[in-house]
Amino acid sequence: MFLPVNNTQAKPAMPPDSGFSESDWNVLSTFWHPVALSSEVTDKPAGVRLLDVPVVLYRTPEGVKAARDVCSHRGAKLSLGSIKDGLLVCGFHGFHYDCAGVCVRIPALPPGSPVPGKLRLQTYLCTERYGFVWVCLASTPRADLPEWPAIENGSGTVAVVPVSTWQSSAARHVENFNDICHVPWVHTGTFGGPEEAIAPYDVSISETRLSFQADVTEQVRYADNANSDAAPVYRHAVYSYELTLPFASSVKVFDPKTGHVYRIYDIASPVSARSTRIFQVVVDESRLTPAEVLIDFTMRINAEDAPQVEAQSPNQLPLDLRDEIHIPADRMSIEYRRALARLGLGEQAVS
Ligand SMILES: [Fe+2]
Repeated sequence: MFLPVNNTQAKPAMPPDSGFSESDWNVLSTFWHPVALSSEVTDKPAGVRLLDVPVVLYRTPEGVKAARDVCSHRGAKLSLGSIKDGLLVCGFHGFHYDCAGVCVRIPALPPGSPVPGKLRLQTYLCTERYGFVWVCLASTPRADLPEWPAIENGSGTVAVVPVSTWQSSAARHVENFNDICHVPWVHTGTFGGPEEAIAPYDVSISETRLSFQADVTEQVRYADNANSDAAPVYRHAVYSYELTLPFASSVKVFDPKTGHVYRIYDIASPVSARSTRIFQVVVDESRLTPAEVLIDFTMRINAEDAPQVEAQSPNQLPLDLRDEIHIPADRMSIEYRRALARLGLGEQAVS
C-alpha cells in the first residue's frame, strides 16, 4: 500500500512490472523505436508506451519532445494535460515544463518564489522521420535510424498505413514479415500464390542488417475479383528483403516483366513483451496505385497475418535454435534469431 519511508534505492530504468527480462530491456532500450505517427502529435500531449514505459510526446517550437509520462510533483499523467506557449502543462496542479523537461512555473507558488530545482522530467531522445515520431529511452543510441531513401526522395506514391496493435512480441511479428514460406498459406485472399518449394537462398549478414532475395510467384487478387471464379492470374516477382536490427524491415517487390517496383517498410515497436504497435509505409515507385488502395491492400495483408502470429506459442521468439524445428526455407529466421542473440538478447529468462 505504501512505499518505504527510507526510499533511498536508485530507481531502475525498467518499470518493475515489465514483462521483459532486465537484460532484454536494457538492450532494446538502446535502440530507436517509432512510437506515434507525426500526425498524431499536434497541439495536445500524446501518451504512448514503449517497453512498458509510459511516454508523453509534446510538440514545442523546437520540435516534438518526449518524457516519462509522470509529473514529478504527484505522479500525474502529463498526457492528460495541455500545451501552452510551447510548455507542457500538467493537468493536475498546473506545473509547467519546458522543452528540456525543466519545471519553469508553478501557479500555486507565491510570486517570486523559486521553483524547486528537483522538478525535472525524465526526458528521452526524440526525433521525427518517415512520418513517424521515434524515441530512444537510453541516453546514447546504439544505432542510427534505418536509411530508407525511397520514402523521402519523392519518386513514388507514399502511403502511411494506420498503426495497428498486435498482441504478439515484436520479434515474432518481424520474423513473420521476413518469412516467405507462409505466403501461399496465409495470404490466400491477397497476394499468396500456389504452393511451391522454396529455392535455397543466402542471407547477407552485417552488424546491423540482414538481407536476402527470393523469387516468388504471386497471385494478385484485387477487392473486386478476390472471390471471382475466373482463372487465377499469377505473376513472378523478386522480393529483396532488408532487416535493420532489431525490428525494422523492408521488402522491395520487383516485377521483372513490367519493371514495377513496390516497397513495404515495417517496424515493430515493442509496447510491452506481448503487445506490439506496427508502423508501415508503402511506396509505389511506379505511381500505378492510389495511396488509399495501397493502404487498404496492406491492411488486408495484416489482417491475414495477425491471427497466426498472435496465436504462436510461445509468444516470445525462442533464440535457442534447438527450441523449434527449422527447414531450409527458414534460413532468414535462423539468421534473425542468431543476430538477436548477438545483440545480447535472450540472455536471461523472464522472471
Ligand atoms: Fe504475411
